[in-house]
Amino acid sequence: MMRCIVLILFLISISQCARILGVFHVPGKSHYAAGNTLMKILAERGHEVTLVSPFKEKKPPKNFNEVVLAPTAPQGKANFFNFNVHPIIQSYIYSSISISMINETFSHPEFKKLLKTKEKFDLIIIEYFFSDALKYLGVYFDAPVIIYSALDANSWINPSVANPMPISSVQDLTASSDVLSFYSRLDRTFMYTCNSLIRNFLYIPAHDKVVKEHFPGAPDIDAYFDKAALILLNADVSINAPIPKVPAMVDIGGFHVKPTKPLPKDLQDILDNAVNGVVYFSMGSNLQSSQMPKETLAALLGAFSKLKETVLWKWEDDDLPGKPDNVVIRKWLPQNDIFAHKNIKLFITHGGIFSTIEAVYHGIPCLAFPIFGDQILNAQRATENGYARWIRFHEITEERVATEIRDLLTNPKYSENVKARSRIMLDKPVSAVDRLVFWVEYVIRHKGADHLRVAGLDLTWYQYLLVDVIVLISICSLLSVLFIRYVFVI
Ligand SMILES: *[C@@H]1O[C@H](CO)[C@@H](O)[C@H](O)[C@H]1NC(C)=O
Repeated sequence: MMRCIVLILFLISISQCARILGVFHVPGKSHYAAGNTLMKILAERGHEVTLVSPFKEKKPPKNFNEVVLAPTAPQGKANFFNFNVHPIIQSYIYSSISISMINETFSHPEFKKLLKTKEKFDLIIIEYFFSDALKYLGVYFDAPVIIYSALDANSWINPSVANPMPISSVQDLTASSDVLSFYSRLDRTFMYTCNSLIRNFLYIPAHDKVVKEHFPGAPDIDAYFDKAALILLNADVSINAPIPKVPAMVDIGGFHVKPTKPLPKDLQDILDNAVNGVVYFSMGSNLQSSQMPKETLAALLGAFSKLKETVLWKWEDDDLPGKPDNVVIRKWLPQNDIFAHKNIKLFITHGGIFSTIEAVYHGIPCLAFPIFGDQILNAQRATENGYARWIRFHEITEERVATEIRDLLTNPKYSENVKARSRIMLDKPVSAVDRLVFWVEYVIRHKGADHLRVAGLDLTWYQYLLVDVIVLISICSLLSVLFIRYVFVI
């Protein structure tokens, strides 16, 4: 009996206070916000966490340590509004950016300090932003690695756990159409092939190189490429398409949505007094409204001025020349708390995944102006799911915006559909946060959870694709044909 109690206490203690290292090295606010939330959730459950990131937490809670990778050189302000390139070029750009980001992380004095301490961690969580080189940290610290991905399973992350992806029916990150037409399948095949070539011939060798540069004596990347214990995907069937996933992939979409807090008095008044409803407009944290092209701005102001609704706009400058009376600007807005207000009728968004999840969580129809990355895909999917409309940011005109807004505000189907999606999101045996905590502790309890590894990881690519089998069958068929001809015809 006593032994049993000791054992139980021991089990509780090991699962209660693990030491967890989180590496969220991407210098983007939404990436940081996700890492910060995820690690805080684990700290709250009693784990001792260390978050490596380019930003600093203002009020670090208990058990929450930080390694701040402050930029070592002055940073230029990127203007993402100008980012209008073909998806394949985007893949190439992301994969090159990923290498320099990891190079900078590995060279950062604060990161080097952390490496020198040779601290012991029970688990390492890395953010996947084309960041396979970070998996080496599992080797360095001799700890299991969990990958967190802001995006759903895709052709870049799948090889880590040999997740199957039938390209005929599963949409990849950069695909441009979801219609199951012949052209669409042709397009996907082309994109998939290009992505695989970039990955195998440029990207993986560069990640291998950057690891060996910083860790002399490190093994080839093959030795740790497929050693991730688990992948946590910021995805949910209420938003993403239902697709095949190996057991080592777990959806935690919605984990970042916090319980709503009361609004500041001025905002509460604005929302309460907006008798005709409120359209909330924000292009997310990476896009600065003030960098928006003039013509686009004029088109938006023109469309907004015709509305009887109030427009609440996250606008990062002090003033907005030509602002109509029904438009209210604020540099920063508590989006999630605002969404809880009953007068919010429409969300105009860049289509980022976190914003999309929050909109569905609160049941608010969307008009998306996607620009790059997964935004177009998110916008398309939201439209297919019946709760959104979208216009490519670079194709905005006053007339189109006005037409779409009118449709979204007057046709009740958008609101009904998004409320149905919201119910799907919340209809789960356990919440996204509890799922996240369970799976992280599961990997720690089962020492890397090797039992989840699928056999596909142990095959070479030609074995996996049955190339050897097909070659053998072809040769045999050919030989039989030749043999039959030889015996009977000649
Ligand atoms: C990493 O950065 C250093 C210094 O800027 C540079 O010399 C090196 O080539 C970079 N490595 C890779 C793999 O890009």
